[in-house]
Formats: sequence, structure tokens, C-alpha cells
Amino acid sequence: MADVDSDSPHPQFVVEDPYPDWASARAEASVSELEFFGRTSYQVSSFENVEAALRDSETFSSSINLETMGPYMGQVLLAKNGDEHTRYRNLVSTAFRASRLEHWKTELIEPTIHNLLDAIACEGRADLVADVTRQYPVQIIAGIMGVPLEDHATFHEWAEQINTGPLDPEKGVAASRAMREYLTPIVEDRRLEPRDDLISDIVHAEIDGRRLDDEHIYGFLRLLMPAGAETTFRVMGSCLFALLSKPSVLQRVVAERELVPEAIEETLRWETSVTMVSRVLTRETSLGGVEMSKGAPVMLLTGSANRDEARHDRPEEWDIDRADKSHLAFGWGRHLCLGMHLARMELEIGINAILDRLPDLELDPAAPTPGIRGYAFRGPDSLQVRFRPAAT
Ligand code: HEM
Repeated sequence: MADVDSDSPHPQFVVEDPYPDWASARAEASVSELEFFGRTSYQVSSFENVEAALRDSETFSSSINLETMGPYMGQVLLAKNGDEHTRYRNLVSTAFRASRLEHWKTELIEPTIHNLLDAIACEGRADLVADVTRQYPVQIIAGIMGVPLEDHATFHEWAEQINTGPLDPEKGVAASRAMREYLTPIVEDRRLEPRDDLISDIVHAEIDGRRLDDEHIYGFLRLLMPAGAETTFRVMGSCLFALLSKPSVLQRVVAERELVPEAIEETLRWETSVTMVSRVLTRETSLGGVEMSKGAPVMLLTGSANRDEARHDRPEEWDIDRADKSHLAFGWGRHLCLGMHLARMELEIGINAILDRLPDLELDPAAPTPGIRGYAFRGPDSLQVRFRPAAT
């Protein structure tokens, strides 16, 4: 594991680049047994086997997420199985369907990105992470949910702390409580007067003729906030990093905008923000020739799968012209990312707006070279750029 950050309270999770270790894992055995906190566990690193495990949600159960994320999120969709999962997922899936997103495109997504770019377009210099990508998806998910947009910074902090709860339980629990306290008056307001927002949909949703209890309502809200805020902004940063690192490709993309979705898909393959998902075995099984025992946790390395040399030539390389960009960045099967259409829409609109509004965009040569870092969640911390300022 390279370049561990010694200031981190959890140094094993703060790495510059886990991909070399995962390449070695794939070369040795695509399914390997390991001891994790004294418990027999498995790690799956190849595309074929990660996909097979994701498809078999009865054997590879998501209920482990209640153990790991439950203390911070409560009753979450991500931890449900079978018919119960289908019923809960159906409650919110309409809000994220491609047809519904057209409404958010003009009402929320385009105004949000342009508002952020208005603040920097005349400056000629910016940090695209701090000034744009870190603020953009969190404002969108806050808008879709119906949370006041001016509170998005606090929400971002809570979302981050809830997401990394297993690494810092004290902060995770405090953030989870704070988010619930903050949301309570909004939830109560929507109970009485529903509006055109997701909190109203969730509060008034019924399963078998009964409204959701508070544990499920806040469980949904505590999952959607981090899921919407913490993921897309990192992929957007990595996509901009890839383009800025290859100025000739950036020039092509500026001139041929149909390449923007290609850049996004290749980034999702090359540097997804969510590099792994957890499962637990409901029965004995065998995968990749390895016998696996019932009750064992399984880590499915989607990031590693996306760089499997059995699937892609030169997998470590970001190549916009790659014909096959297939990936498991959004998972697969029952828990396939509910927000993937929203994420793709935010990325496409956001990157196009940056290319339109910040001409002659390049990395700032006076700034330190940026890098993508992280283990379970990856993205660049900063992207300092310069561009031709807009006339004031
Ligand atoms: C590029 C951005 C994103 C990435 C890489 C990503 C990745 C993922 C992955 C890998 C899963 C599957 C987890 C599992 O199988 O255990 C997932 C599920 C989920 N994602 Fe995303 N996601 C992104 C954006 C979003 C957005 C914008 C939302 C909107 C709120 C969202 C909401 C969800 C939800 C609710 C689930 C759980 C679905 C279920 O359990 O049925 N995601 N995501």
C-alpha cells in the first residue's frame, strides 16, 4: 500500500493508490481468504467474479450493511433483501427515473452549476474541487430532497461523517443525530403540507397501506444525502483531472462535445469514487474455485474489477477512445445504483458548463501537481486551474 498519510487517525484507509495491490491480488487469485478483525473474510478482485457475486443477492447478502452502516444511517435500503428491498426501492425509484430528471435538469441542475461558475468565471484562476465539484452535487441532492440550499455545506460535512462512520464511530453517530435533529422540523412540515420534493414523497409513502415509521424515513434521508453528495463530486474531479492531464484530449473534447459522455464513462471505469461494496454469505458457496463459508463477510472490489486485464487492454490507462468502457462503478443486480441517471446527468451538464464557461482551461503550473487519492472513496482533493477570465 503506497504513501500512507501518517496524520490520519485511520492510516490504513488513506492511500494514494490501492490499484497496484489490487493488480497483484488479481494475478494471484481473484478470490482470496483473509482475516479481518479476527473474522474469516473474502476479497473478490476480478470483473467476472465481482459481477457474479453482485448478481446473486440471495447468497451474497447486503444485510451486512445494517451492521456497518446501521449505527449511522438507521434502516437503510442498501441493507434490505428480497421483496422487502423491492417494496422500499419502489417508493423512491420514481424520483430518480430518467423522465423525472428532465424536470430537475432545467429547474435545478443547470442553474446550480452556472451559479457556481458565475462566482469564478471572471477570476482566471480557481480550485475546481473547492469552488465547483464539492459544492455542486450536494446542492442538487439537497434541492431534490427539499432541504434549504443555503445549508448544503453543513450537510456535506454530516454526509461525509456518516459515510465514514465505521472509521470514526463517535463522529459518525454525532453527525447522524445532528442530521436527524435538523431534518425533524422539515419532515414534520411536509407531513402537514406536502410539496414537490423527495422528503414529502417519503413521508407520505405507504407500504401495505401503512406509512413508513421514523426509523425508515430518516434511514432513507441519511442514505440519500451521502449517496448523492459524496460520490458524483469525486468522479467529476477525477474526470477533470484526466482531461487536464491530457491537454490534447481536452482540446478534442472542447471541440467535439459528443466526447463528454465518453470521458465520463471512461472515468467511471478507470477511477470510480466507490471502489468496493460489502456483502455477507447466507450459505456456503464457491466462487473462482474457492470454497467460502456461511456467515463470512465478502468485500467486492468494484474498482479492481474495472481494471481487470482479462476484461480491458491497458486497464491502468485512461483512454477516451477505448471501445469497451464497461464497468461496475454503479454496482449490478438488485442494488444497482438508484442515482446513476442523476449522476450521469450531473456529470455531463457540469463538465459541459465548465468547458463552455472557462476557456483555455489548464492546470495551474504554479500549483502542486494534483493527484487522485483514497481507498474506499477516491477522488482529487484539489484541482488548481487557470483559464481566460470572462470580461466583467
Ligand atoms: C458517480 C456517482 C455514483 C457512484 C459511483 C455510485 C455507486 C453506487 C454503488 C456501487 C452502489 C451499489 C452498492 C451496493 O451494491 O452495495 C450504489 C447504490 C446506491 N446509490 Fe449510488 N453512486 C453514485 C451516485 C449516486 C447518486 C447521485 C445517488 C442519489 C441519491 C445515489 C444513490 C444510491 C442509492 C440510494 C443506492 C442504493 C440502492 C439499493 O440499495 O437498491 N448514488 N451506488
